[in-house]
Amino acid sequence: MSAQFSRTSNPDPTPEARRTEILAAPGFGRYFTDHMATVRWNAQRGWHDAAVVPYGPLVLDPASMVLHYGQEIFEGLKAYRQPDGSIASFRPEANAARFRATAARMAMAPLPDELFVASLAELLDADREWVPPAGGEEAMYLRPFMLATEVGLGVRPSSEYLYCLIASPVGPYFPGGVKPIDVWLSTEYTRAALGGTGTAKCGGNYAASLLPQAQGAEHGCSQVVYLDAEERHWVDEMGSNNLFFVYGSGDQIEVVTPALTGSILPGITRDSLLVLAKELGCEVTERRMSWDEWLSGAADGSISEVFGCGTAAVVTPIGRVRYHGGEVVMGDGQPGPVGLRLRSMLTDIQRGAAPDTHSWMRTLVPA
Ligand code: PLP
Ligand code: COI
Repeated sequence: MSAQFSRTSNPDPTPEARRTEILAAPGFGRYFTDHMATVRWNAQRGWHDAAVVPYGPLVLDPASMVLHYGQEIFEGLKAYRQPDGSIASFRPEANAARFRATAARMAMAPLPDELFVASLAELLDADREWVPPAGGEEAMYLRPFMLATEVGLGVRPSSEYLYCLIASPVGPYFPGGVKPIDVWLSTEYTRAALGGTGTAKCGGNYAASLLPQAQGAEHGCSQVVYLDAEERHWVDEMGSNNLFFVYGSGDQIEVVTPALTGSILPGITRDSLLVLAKELGCEVTERRMSWDEWLSGAADGSISEVFGCGTAAVVTPIGRVRYHGGEVVMGDGQPGPVGLRLRSMLTDIQRGAAPDTHSWMRTLVPA
């Protein structure tokens, strides 16, 4: 289909002074731009009615299937103001492909990749003034999502979907920037079982993570580490981050991340860091990693750093893991050099401060 978006300008946009105030301290996901993009799908017409419209409430019939059986999926990616004033995003085709894979797992209509990327370009063009300036930590977080809009209570795939894209200027996901976070090992709850939806980015995964997340918060932790559902032995990932472990130091560094064994979200940041770590001269290993190995490696110092990674959190060092009956500090509890180096390699590419040798950046709005 052609990616022709109609555009209806917001008749009551945020005043410039207010927008400037928001951009000075955006937080994470608290403020939204003046427009959103929508595209509808039904079995007869396929994808149709692509539009950029004023940001505002969605009207849903109370019997819309999403409200009952949770057929909802989403993505998360960022767009960055470049030094020349243009706006580019990082590997949007990878998010488009993951959105399609998630849709397939949830028996939803696949959105063509070109339409996904076109929606980003259209919304960023309409709300270009909202994209934070080049050179800082801030970026535009883009949240594409899709929901089942057929009216009916039968349990079956919907025959109608609404795709929607909203945008939110953001600063760091964890308040405090690159400060190490404490994380909670959940031995009571799991995130994903083989054959389940762990590799998909569906809202239900996050709904199920809220109780363990609240338990973690009671222990002063800002993320939850999940073990595999079958043996409760292997480290999967965190609630919204993949995990990396650093062994060794100097020119003998091995970077280990849990292999994608069928219950982990295949993170685009994870994939990119594997490439960058190799370039940095590290040995790079994807394999299963047990909680016992983490605990003993952190205790005897063979694991020098652990960090989480994701679009929202970029690279976030882990200072301590807490669990029922104890806690263990990673290294000296401070951000480690390998995580920090990888973080700056990645963000320099994203912000146009280093050459994009992998063709990861896509200009969506020209200067
Ligand atoms: N794991 C989970 C559960 C996530 O929600 C995310 C964030 O999207 C990630 C990992 C990291 O993925 P990405 O690097 O593609 O943002
Ligand atoms: C991400 O985009 O990195 C996320 O994990 C989204 C998160 C806020 C759920």
